[in-house]
Amino acid sequence: MATYLITGSNRGIGLEYCRQLKERGDEVIATCRVSSSELDSLEIRVESGVDVTSGSSVLNLKDKIKEIPIDVLIQNAGIAEFNSLSDLDPESVLRQFEVNALSPLCFTHSFLENMREGSKVILMTSRMGSIDDNTSGGSYGYRMSKSALCMAGKSLSIDLKSRGILVAILHPGLVSTRMTGFTTHGITPKESVNGLLARIDSLTIDNSGTFWHSNGDILPW
Ligand SMILES: NC(=O)c1ccc[n+]([C@@H]2O[C@H](COP(=O)([O-])OP(=O)(O)OC[C@H]3O[C@@H](n4cnc5c(N)ncnc54)[C@H](OP(=O)(O)O)[C@@H]3O)[C@@H](O)[C@H]2O)c1
Repeated sequence: MATYLITGSNRGIGLEYCRQLKERGDEVIATCRVSSSELDSLEIRVESGVDVTSGSSVLNLKDKIKEIPIDVLIQNAGIAEFNSLSDLDPESVLRQFEVNALSPLCFTHSFLENMREGSKVILMTSRMGSIDDNTSGGSYGYRMSKSALCMAGKSLSIDLKSRGILVAILHPGLVSTRMTGFTTHGITPKESVNGLLARIDSLTIDNSGTFWHSNGDILPW
């Protein structure tokens, strides 16, 4: 049994992580800004009031769980505001950068004291952050923020190697959640999280820092 700390747990992929981890008997600390009836019904530890961009709420959480060793930290919270070139909104680009790139890095930094050799840091990025894979342009804020998150993940994997802390940079697939308008072209959160947990379980010191699709494909930077 391992202890997982997850951000953005009240819905979508974060909620499904909580559901599957609880089902397999792991310990979960589910963090969110505001809980949901679905999350409450799982009967796991829920820490609400955690906004990843708010230093004070992160410090408050840090204080509450300072004695708890974290085996896996899943940085799942994210936002997507699809900015086109003709409709460029610098505030929106900055907002996405803050939530999707800067906050996961600072959040990781805040909880390093709870981690030990073998602990894992999981960054939920997107293949939209892949420069190589970009054939359709647009989505400036989202793409730029997820590219930056990939870079943070790569550096973290190098910097934390000597402490035996592992890092995975994961794309969930195109998943039917509120973020994608519950698209019918994608996979379900259940299918996505099945694959994501397989990637997390197979993370080792030798493959730390890899950018994976939930289906196991290694993605290009
Ligand atoms: N769905 C996809 O196809 C897809 C594809 C690639 C990558 N991803 C990534 O996967 C992750 C989960 O996405 P999803 O599809 O589950 O999206 P979602 O249903 O929109 O859920 C996003 C989650 O992030 C939380 N969040 C947003 N801003 C936050 C903040 N400042 N502090 C704390 N929590 C915050 C939301 O909480 P509130 O309810 O409080 O807003 C919500 O729990 C994201 O990082 C996303 O970029 C998703």
